[in-house]
Amino acid sequence: MQTYVNQKIKPITTTTNSKGNLEISGIDLTELAKKYETPLYVIDEVTLTKMANDYKEAFSKYEKTKMTFASKALMTSAIAKIFHNLGFGFDVVSKGEIYTLLNAGISLDKVSFNGNNKSIDEITFAMDNNIDHFSADNFYELEKLNEIAKAKNKIQKIHIRITPGIECHTHEYIQTGQTDSKFGFDLNMMDLAIEKILNEYKNLKLVGLHAHIGSQIFETSVYFDEVKILLEQIKRIKDKFNIELSEINIGGGLGITYTKEDNPPSVFEIADTIINSINIHCEKFGLNKPVLYIEPGRSLVCTAGFTLYTIGSSKEIKELNKKYIAVDGGMADNPRPSMYQAEYVAEIANAKTGENFEKVTVAGKFCESGDILIKDIMLNNPKQGDILCVYDTGAYCYSMSSNYNCVLKPAMVLINSGEDDIIVKRQTPEQLVQNDVIPKRYR
Ligand code: LLP
Repeated sequence: MQTYVNQKIKPITTTTNSKGNLEISGIDLTELAKKYETPLYVIDEVTLTKMANDYKEAFSKYEKTKMTFASKALMTSAIAKIFHNLGFGFDVVSKGEIYTLLNAGISLDKVSFNGNNKSIDEITFAMDNNIDHFSADNFYELEKLNEIAKAKNKIQKIHIRITPGIECHTHEYIQTGQTDSKFGFDLNMMDLAIEKILNEYKNLKLVGLHAHIGSQIFETSVYFDEVKILLEQIKRIKDKFNIELSEINIGGGLGITYTKEDNPPSVFEIADTIINSINIHCEKFGLNKPVLYIEPGRSLVCTAGFTLYTIGSSKEIKELNKKYIAVDGGMADNPRPSMYQAEYVAEIANAKTGENFEKVTVAGKFCESGDILIKDIMLNNPKQGDILCVYDTGAYCYSMSSNYNCVLKPAMVLINSGEDDIIVKRQTPEQLVQNDVIPKRYR
């Protein structure tokens, strides 16, 4: 059976070269680690592009699809440029993400602004730069959006974000569609929001409904239900308010394969389910086919990304029959294992003579016992100085990284068919303290 990018653990270009070293996109990872040092985030453009093109192909059956990339998964100026060139718009949630787009020379005409507490400064900045639309999350935001649009003499296009009441089986922290959520209007409050928009907020133009049910989703059926609920609501709104909303945004969420236990559907399967649900329910409710926004993040970039570390110290606890090996990064460059008990697969990138697999726990270098990257993994004779390649770190690692322990953030390199380009420079100690100010009396 054919497997697609998000159904694989490793980038699609992964092989072992004649030296016995791991090679991805024609680049020897051991050489790459030498050239740029570790820890190092790496993105394989070939894998990323394949996934993006699969998304485009899968949804090409529905002409009214607008493809956007959820920037929160991985935002840098170069990544923005790549998605822009592939024809994607963006889902942003902060001034910083907008700023990064503008820095990459990308206008905001295919950008939606999400989030549950956008500041006045962020709203103003987005409107000043002609963002396409906001997904309004709550009453406070509606009021501010209208006020700011009015002051600018603008009619601002908006969607409203609803919580469709769907629970999906993913980690509690990354579930978002259930009724008890900090995001969006619940279905009871939605009508009140619409009344206000239609009667009071004359500078807002409501065109669609937005929902996002969660992240790292493995079930196709939740997408079928989500589309059904959105269209049911559009039908109800049409009957009650006499307006037919012409856009739906179903969020992101498609899962990926971090370990062999993960079994996500392909993008083609979810596309078929979503399009099928649109067809069935538009017919059933007598609605026009809406514009469909999707905003995947993780599934577009995760498999393309991996992190290279150098193995340093190790520790054996004889009575527990346990061995720790420590790498030169950890929870500051990848907080997901400590936040969500996320699991990863890794292997040693440099050639090994023979096979001598050992069960080890890969620890980070940060001052916290919970800084464990991978529990109990079989590695081939791991030794000090070896390069460890941890797969599937393309999403929510760099974007959630920190400077914990004042450790500098790693560099990021883009590789493509034998070429390597730095896309984020390694942070310097000077940058770490550049915003520090010592009060006069201590100078
Ligand atoms: N749209 C909205 C409104 C979202 O809130 C999200 C993710 C996405 C799209 C993209 O979802 P994706 O396709 O990436 O699943 N930090 C967590 C994930 C948090 C996701 C937040 N929202 C993690 O590392 O697993």
